[in-house]
Amino acid sequence: YRTLRVALLGAGAVGSQVADLLLRHGDELADRAGAKLELAGIAVRNLDAKREADLPRELFTTDAETLIVGSDIVIELMGGIEPARTQVLHAIASGADVVTANKALLATHGSEVFEAADQVGAEVYYEAAAAGAIPIIRPLRDSLAGDRVVRIMGIVNGTTNYILDRMDTEGADFADVLAQAQALGYAEADPTADVEGYDAAQKAAILASLAFHTTVPLDAVHREGITSVDAAMIESARHAGYVIKLLAVCERLAAEDGGTESISVRVYPALVDRAHPLASVHGANNAVFVQAEAAGDLMFYGAGAGGVQTASAVLGDVVSAARRHIAGGVGVGESTRANLPAVPIGRVITRY
Ligand code: NDP
Ligand code: HSE
Repeated sequence: YRTLRVALLGAGAVGSQVADLLLRHGDELADRAGAKLELAGIAVRNLDAKREADLPRELFTTDAETLIVGSDIVIELMGGIEPARTQVLHAIASGADVVTANKALLATHGSEVFEAADQVGAEVYYEAAAAGAIPIIRPLRDSLAGDRVVRIMGIVNGTTNYILDRMDTEGADFADVLAQAQALGYAEADPTADVEGYDAAQKAAILASLAFHTTVPLDAVHREGITSVDAAMIESARHAGYVIKLLAVCERLAAEDGGTESISVRVYPALVDRAHPLASVHGANNAVFVQAEAAGDLMFYGAGAGGVQTASAVLGDVVSAARRHIAGGVGVGESTRANLPAVPIGRVITRY
């Protein structure tokens, strides 16, 4: 096999598992990718930090910029906007394909990143940027490309689902369960992103952009988190036959009075009937319902957060990137991206 050089940026909850799987399953991945995937190095902030996996110390560096140069595939798992944005653009300019799970980056600087990639014929893969291990980016972008998605409704944040579920089923305390979600590697580095709904809003913007073939800016997404949900509200909901879930709803709205269609994208804690399938999404799992004109109702379910679970989606992207390299840089391509303006963003509907 030809050898492809892979650089990993970040070895936290997800990155350490990606490195571990890449090293342990190297031969199998090579067979699937048609190329040997050589982990050239792992960039981190702190060389002495304790890692979730036992990884060779000599792979670690604090010099991400140098590690990127000469790499065929750069996996960005640092999170946050900077320096992730700068390093991703540096990777693209250096000729690498990029794999990232960074929804914060893509929801705010996606157009810049995709345009930079288009200019040099690079590709950006981001299956792990929405709903963790659940395959949802490819289904929306590829499998449903011939259909017309009308609505997406989902639980897309594992941390908040874990918190609400434990409060509902065990009467657990918000702060205690949040601390557990952090310890389990579900939460963002700053968990405000989870509990205030920013993370779910970023994912909703990405999913809506793909589903509706447009660019949904983050500030067009109505966002409410779960910090106002208390034990009394959960109890009242239970008595009335409901469970409280943080939902992301993305809808195509029919044109009114001869106008154009518009889109509504919103994230908010909602009362879900206990008989509804979303009510039985427990722990850090996620579920995404997609309604399309021809396909009808589709449901995607699985682990929405967690290091090793998310590593599955990341490595799937790495194999895709490797296959594209081996095929001479063809595959995926700009026509499949989310930046094709088609439907204007209309009013944001806040009622539910
Ligand atoms: P962590 O906070 O656990 O890990 C971040 C890693 O990046 C650490 O190894 C850290 O180094 C490194 N890092 C951060 N800043 C820098 C920097 N300036 N230079 C070099 N290295 C840096 O994050 P996660 O693994 O949880 O998440 C990574 C990405 O994956 C994020 O975009 C997140 O949103 C996304 N994601 C996470 C999921 C999860 O369940 N955790 C699920 C789906 C997506 P050091 O260790 O030395 O501090
Ligand atoms: N913090 C995120 C969550 C990680 O809890 O869903 C997965 O994107």
